[in-house]
Amino acid sequence: MSEKKLRSQAWFARQDKMGFYYRSWLKNRGFPQDQFEGRPVIGICNTWSELTPCNSHFRTIAEHVRWGVLDAGGFPLEFPVMSLGETMLRPTAMLYRNLASMDVEESIRANPLDGVVLLMGCDKTTPALLMGAASVDVPTIGVSGGPMLRGIHRGKAIGSGTNTISMSEQLRSGQITLDEFHDAEASMHRSHGHCMTMGTASTMACMVEALGVGMPGNAAIPAVDARRNLLAREAGRRIVELVRSDTVLSKILTREAFENAIRVNAGIGGSTNAVVHLIAIARRVGIDLGLDDWDRLGRDVHCLVNLMPSGQFLMEDFFEAGGLPVVIRELSERGLLHKDAMTVNGGSLWENNQDAQCWKSEVIYPFEAPFKRDAGIAVLRGNLAPDGAIIKPSAASPHLMQHTGRAVVFESIEDLHARINDDALDIDESCVMVLKYCGPKGYPGMAEVGNMPLPPKLLKRGITDIVRISDARMSGTAYGTVVLHTAPEAAAGGPLALVENGDRITLDVDQRSLHLHVDEAELARRRAAWQPPQPHAVRGYVKLYIDHVLQANDGVDLDFLVGRTGPAVPRDNH
Ligand code: FES
Repeated sequence: MSEKKLRSQAWFARQDKMGFYYRSWLKNRGFPQDQFEGRPVIGICNTWSELTPCNSHFRTIAEHVRWGVLDAGGFPLEFPVMSLGETMLRPTAMLYRNLASMDVEESIRANPLDGVVLLMGCDKTTPALLMGAASVDVPTIGVSGGPMLRGIHRGKAIGSGTNTISMSEQLRSGQITLDEFHDAEASMHRSHGHCMTMGTASTMACMVEALGVGMPGNAAIPAVDARRNLLAREAGRRIVELVRSDTVLSKILTREAFENAIRVNAGIGGSTNAVVHLIAIARRVGIDLGLDDWDRLGRDVHCLVNLMPSGQFLMEDFFEAGGLPVVIRELSERGLLHKDAMTVNGGSLWENNQDAQCWKSEVIYPFEAPFKRDAGIAVLRGNLAPDGAIIKPSAASPHLMQHTGRAVVFESIEDLHARINDDALDIDESCVMVLKYCGPKGYPGMAEVGNMPLPPKLLKRGITDIVRISDARMSGTAYGTVVLHTAPEAAAGGPLALVENGDRITLDVDQRSLHLHVDEAELARRRAAWQPPQPHAVRGYVKLYIDHVLQANDGVDLDFLVGRTGPAVPRDNH
């Protein structure tokens, strides 16, 4: 491959006043003159923050990347970007995904960087960094922080989010004490790393590997395993080679790579959040990925992994069983993946994974006898979701996949919280819970509230699932027969806003339909009476977000961020 002039030389090769500025202030940090004479400058884009506990070990990972860059003759420079801690940020980290992506994009373009290594872990840090880097399109490698060790509580494995949800339901229905609840908090999250269920963080780490933008094995190595550090060092070495061969990110993020990722998502029973994230990342590089791709590509793919929330085990078990390479090999052998898709280590997807072996058959199942059949995310359409809605069949209850029920409507998340524990609430297991105004504009930020808690009076009777519909997202660690991402959302005037208590709704996953049994004349009457909600903000980022955010079927990006500007060097600052 051809060698190209380094963009960093526009800064460092100048022998004038500006060159003095660019070099002198770095010499102050101990970098000698020869650092500036043709070495690829590699940015290590770090999302370390004490407010993002999942990324708390990233200073260590950054050091290993740095050593790798130095090994290969590069010039590493670490820089911080906005970090997004899923557990802390209110109203939801998703509100800030696009803001962080702008930070990443502008930080890369405005600085003398030839390539970047992205350090990402907690849910939104992965898509935010990939979106930003994709819009600049320099050589890029993603290094995930790795999952935590499995949670252990009173002798049993417990998983992030999944058991938080089940234990909070047990607390509400009086099955466990508050002491036990508190005990579980430290025993669930007992090491560095991100959530160790197949939630959104683990899913997105798998997407990084399946897209080819991460090194082989990236997804499952636990955060505290020595092999995570070795992978980081290898990534540091490799990014220098990618710069020298001008392998920009768009050469890796091809349509074939995204199609592979969608099928791998089905193969791992991955998070529904991957839908909005992959669409947003793809559209940054100019690939028109959409909901129809998700439905079409996921249809004949089975889930091979027995991991929470759909199954029993955790990411540490997945790693010990052989990890994502086994899933990629299984799907590739059935002709479901583009084997020739190129990856950042220089090998094709098939070359990297063809020899993968499964060491624990109770964790990773063979394609012929899968853990769950037909696990691709299903896209629903109908008069309740003209632009689509999604459901994760592998996390849903089989007996509810075709269901007609009476709507029990909550006008907001506050309305839900105010009434859900009331034994007078008129609801039974045949009903359909409907939650409005939790979409991208409505919350704002499209919070993970779609898996609404069930009324205690149903929980006490042993009912653990009923059909739930909203314009919200759902945590990747959650489960249930939950219809999500209904578009257009209620706050944008979508039909969800028009549903009333007592309306009948039919969900038919086989037919991919979601139908509100209210005639057009009545819907028109309700639409004429509908009032849009008051805006959440009159200034600042939140106003910018609400004014420009796209709907779920378009990836929830800001309309003016779609596409890429490229890596052209900006004009001088003096
Ligand atoms: Fe960070 Fe789950 S809270 S990955």
